[in-house]
Amino acid sequence: MTALLATEGLTMRFGGVVAVDNVSLAVSERELRCLIGPNGAGKSTFFRCLTGQYRPTAGRILWRGRDITGLEPHAIARLGIGIKTQVPSLFDGLTAIEGVTLAVRRKHGEREARRRAMAALERLGIGALSGALVGLLAHGQRQLVELATVVAPEPDLIILDEPTAGMSAEETAGTAALIREMNRDHAVIVVEHDMQFIRAIASGITVFHQGRVLVEDCAAKVLADPRVHDVYLGRPPTPQVVVPA
Ligand SMILES: Nc1ncnc2c1ncn2[C@@H]1O[C@H](COP(=O)(O)OP(=O)(O)O)[C@@H](O)[C@H]1O
Ligand SMILES: [Mg+2]
Repeated sequence: MTALLATEGLTMRFGGVVAVDNVSLAVSERELRCLIGPNGAGKSTFFRCLTGQYRPTAGRILWRGRDITGLEPHAIARLGIGIKTQVPSLFDGLTAIEGVTLAVRRKHGEREARRRAMAALERLGIGALSGALVGLLAHGQRQLVELATVVAPEPDLIILDEPTAGMSAEETAGTAALIREMNRDHAVIVVEHDMQFIRAIASGITVFHQGRVLVEDCAAKVLADPRVHDVYLGRPPTPQVVVPA
């Protein structure tokens, strides 16, 4: 069966640094896949290749078997790929409903866009925040509104880069549950660092290390793999992961 999204020998070099080194992986329709790995493993660079922010040095990206390597981000989005980066993409001066409506306007008229935007906010449990100014929201709430902008256009694949960065433990658990919910209708690729999240999401996992795929398996096997412990789990938590005592 043709994969929804696949990479073949994907490679990204920055001068002498090989950030992504000959990575081949395939994600099927409705799959939920986590990409994990220590800092510097190449996860974000791989993500930026998939989303069109970087043009890979070598290798191919296939969408339902079609070569989409080198397409611009807007063209990637038009294929039905929804992207959430770590960089905030919402305008502080808009309300949550206005921001999410903007994300759907490309495909629908104003009334229908607004209806879909409201449905997405409700689906993420933040319907009550629809009239709130984005710039005044707490960090976790703002992340949820960003997720609503990704879900609202109903993409076939959602790609998220560290969606729980800066979230509390409670918000992280909630986001894992939401992503599982989103996965009922959409394939999802999540780049993550937070181990609590990996346990909660319990999906297929690809472990990156030094730009390469180290292990690819179900969460239980990955969490028990000594190679993964060596490169990743055995290390002290990084400062970006804040776990309250
Ligand atoms: N724009 C860039 N220019 C040069 N080197 C980069 C750039 N982006 C990432 N790198 C390097 O590529 C490697 C992988 O980084 P990154 O993809 O950010 O890893 P991760 O997201 O897994 O922490 C690191 O060695 C990093 O320093
Ligand atoms: Mg990163």
